[in-house]
Amino acid sequence: MKILALNSSPRSGGDSYTVMMLNALVNGMREAEAEVDIVNLRDKTIRNCMGCFTCWTKTPGKCVHKDDMTKELFPKWLASDLVVYATPLYFHTINAAMSTFWERTLPAALPFFEQGEDGKTFHPLRAKVPASVLLSVCGFPEASEFDALLDFLMRTRHKNTNAVASICRAGASLLTSPFLQDKANDVLDATKQAGRELVKSMKIAPETMARITQPLGDIQSFAKMGNIYWKTCIAEGVTPKEFQEKKMVPRPDSLDSFMFIFPFGVNTRAAGDRTVVLQFKFSGEVEDSCCFTIEKGVVRVKQGTCEKADITIETPFHLWMDIMTRKADGGKMLMEQRYKVHGDLTLMIQLFQKRNDHSS
Ligand SMILES: Cc1cc2nc3c(=O)[nH]c(=O)nc-3n(C[C@H](O)[C@H](O)[C@H](O)COP(=O)(O)O)c2cc1C
Repeated sequence: MKILALNSSPRSGGDSYTVMMLNALVNGMREAEAEVDIVNLRDKTIRNCMGCFTCWTKTPGKCVHKDDMTKELFPKWLASDLVVYATPLYFHTINAAMSTFWERTLPAALPFFEQGEDGKTFHPLRAKVPASVLLSVCGFPEASEFDALLDFLMRTRHKNTNAVASICRAGASLLTSPFLQDKANDVLDATKQAGRELVKSMKIAPETMARITQPLGDIQSFAKMGNIYWKTCIAEGVTPKEFQEKKMVPRPDSLDSFMFIFPFGVNTRAAGDRTVVLQFKFSGEVEDSCCFTIEKGVVRVKQGTCEKADITIETPFHLWMDIMTRKADGGKMLMEQRYKVHGDLTLMIQLFQKRNDHSS
């Protein structure tokens, strides 16, 4: 089977979630022995359709432009058994690069008008158009984010073409969250499985699709974490790409955001079978306290003080945020008595040691 995989994400270098999902799908397709050609539309010159209808009149089936679409991609597209359209969701639809490609497939249609069984007018095809799979990713966590795109697809696809499947992954940035690695791996494994299934049967099993689209987290936490992340990017003047390259950590700017984010970084295994109570007493821009109770791999949080803490940390709020985001060295700051620790210091160090395994 000859497959053409078109990627319209402008982002390269491992930043693109469209590419992450597409690579998984293509790996599965290749495992099932399909011949897959991946084309990054950003590397190609594809001019806008001018609406001149030369392809319908003077040179039937041939576009007036001379660019990568006419020379390379349109013939490849026509010769494929299946085309994967992999696009990021931009303003609820395919992005401009994919749209430009689609408009340029007009020479495959005839100018004439026919009425379908549903009574609606359509243009018949000049040539056999390949079967299609849509693959799209988006930033928002809700699957309904793709509703307009799916409706648009139903309306715009050429009549009598085989739209085989739509793979839509919402909340795609969660695929690289260190706290959701198991779920993200399952999504990518299922996408690979979908690639194998498409080659074997031109279908994706409902169980496979359910794994691909499984919820990755709750929507309230997604928004909270996302807001702390974007505030950090703005405060530090970095783009998402730079944030990743510098291995930065989202920086809480209030007690509320600290209480939300802190549990994600705790090495709960260090507590073993014990119930450990960790108390923070902040000074400076945040004059408040909070308590974390770590028990059986779960971290519970409450604002204020608790009666009996195993470890109490008294610190200026901004200093602890500097330590959390690796701007300041926690050990050095302790030696310089910039903050104080009461209780089990060894356990504190173990709790803050980077987790090797995020499965808990
Ligand atoms: C111009 C633009 C418009 C976007 N519109 C939406 C949108 O309507 N809904 C959404 O959930 N995400 C939207 N996003 C977020 C992208 O879908 C998301 O960042 C996705 O991961 C981009 O794909 P990529 O990682 O392959 O580049 C938009 C992003 C951009 C740059």
